[in-house]
Amino acid sequence: MSKVRIGVIGAGSISEAHLSAYVQNPHVELAAVCDQKGDRARAAADRFQAKRVYTDYRELLADKDIDAVSICTWNDTHGEISIAALEAGKHVLCEKPLCTSVEQALEVEAAVRRTGRLLQVGFVRRYGTNTKVLRRFIDAGDLGEIYYAKASYLRRLGNPGGWFADRERSGGGPLLDIGVHVIDLCWYLMGRPKVKSVTGNVYTKLGNRSNVGNLSFYQAADYDAALNTVEDMANALIRFENGASLMVDVSFTLHAKQDEVTVKLYGDRGGAEVEPELCIVTEKHDTILNVSPQIDERTFDFMGGFRSEIDYFVECCLGRAELIAPVEDGVELTKIVSAIYESAAKGREVVF
Ligand SMILES: NC(=O)c1ccc[n+]([C@@H]2O[C@H](COP(=O)([O-])OP(=O)(O)OC[C@H]3O[C@@H](n4cnc5c(N)ncnc54)[C@H](O)[C@@H]3O)[C@@H](O)[C@H]2O)c1
Repeated sequence: MSKVRIGVIGAGSISEAHLSAYVQNPHVELAAVCDQKGDRARAAADRFQAKRVYTDYRELLADKDIDAVSICTWNDTHGEISIAALEAGKHVLCEKPLCTSVEQALEVEAAVRRTGRLLQVGFVRRYGTNTKVLRRFIDAGDLGEIYYAKASYLRRLGNPGGWFADRERSGGGPLLDIGVHVIDLCWYLMGRPKVKSVTGNVYTKLGNRSNVGNLSFYQAADYDAALNTVEDMANALIRFENGASLMVDVSFTLHAKQDEVTVKLYGDRGGAEVEPELCIVTEKHDTILNVSPQIDERTFDFMGGFRSEIDYFVECCLGRAELIAPVEDGVELTKIVSAIYESAAKGREVVF
């Protein structure tokens, strides 16, 4: 395979990050775009010069001149489309979350094993420069044993509306949408320890606050504030079998002074902050040092992160790299998030 022939399924807001990364990769031929809304698929195909347009993903998957697909559709379709794509012999880059239920995530995992095709889960923050730089320090032992991590992804106003706010189609609110990013990042950098138990709380106190003006936020392509059946905020404590723990809180809306994205890790030889900007904390000659790595982007660079994620996927399709975000990790994150919702519903800890 000299070029990987790509189809992008779902041509809404995030597809732009995929499409622009694919067209910049010299080893990619952008073969097709698909969206159930034909005009949206056509507009994306025209803009990024994709050869063919589909409105039914099954027709795209039947296209023999496509090797791999990006799935950028609603969360409740990820499992079904991933399995169909794998069965059709395509490699898959599936946007996060892998699925909205553990049962379906396990079915996708079985399909990967059965077909021998690749499936990369869209944990894009693993590919940020700040993450990659820190990973080298962690792998070299600079943080020692990481026993505690803490992450917040708090939006004071940022319910994307449309399907995101419809639990039927999204599977959940901020926990599933933005929580997976920071839970995954901590878990990945902690060395993917086995989860022992989860305690969570979920709140639906403020609604989507669509009355608020003069503040912009990420919106679904079909933004609609009329329906909202997801939580406003969630928090959780995740315990691991190796004794480590992770605390997380996330919101679509909260009476917070400002938005906040923080990801912090603490080990017995050093600590680190990945967000809001990379910093490594250490001790030398009886003095604490906050080390500021000199790199272009010390915070997550959205478009750069997607380019790096997609370039990596293409390298995997070409057989020149091994997946770093395989289906198993998507299954594990689905288990963690589902357990947080279960714990909140039951009002007690869920033990794995
Ligand atoms: N990695 C990230 O940082 C990130 C950021 C935003 C969104 N996402 C994920 O990307 C996915 C899409 O999000 P979005 O913001 O682009 O949503 P969106 O609503 O803007 O776009 C989704 C598109 O998918 C289309 N679609 C839905 N079901 C379809 C189907 N069965 N066949 C064909 N087309 C279908 C819709 O018509 C729509 O155009 C979600 O899973 C979301 O969680 C990831």
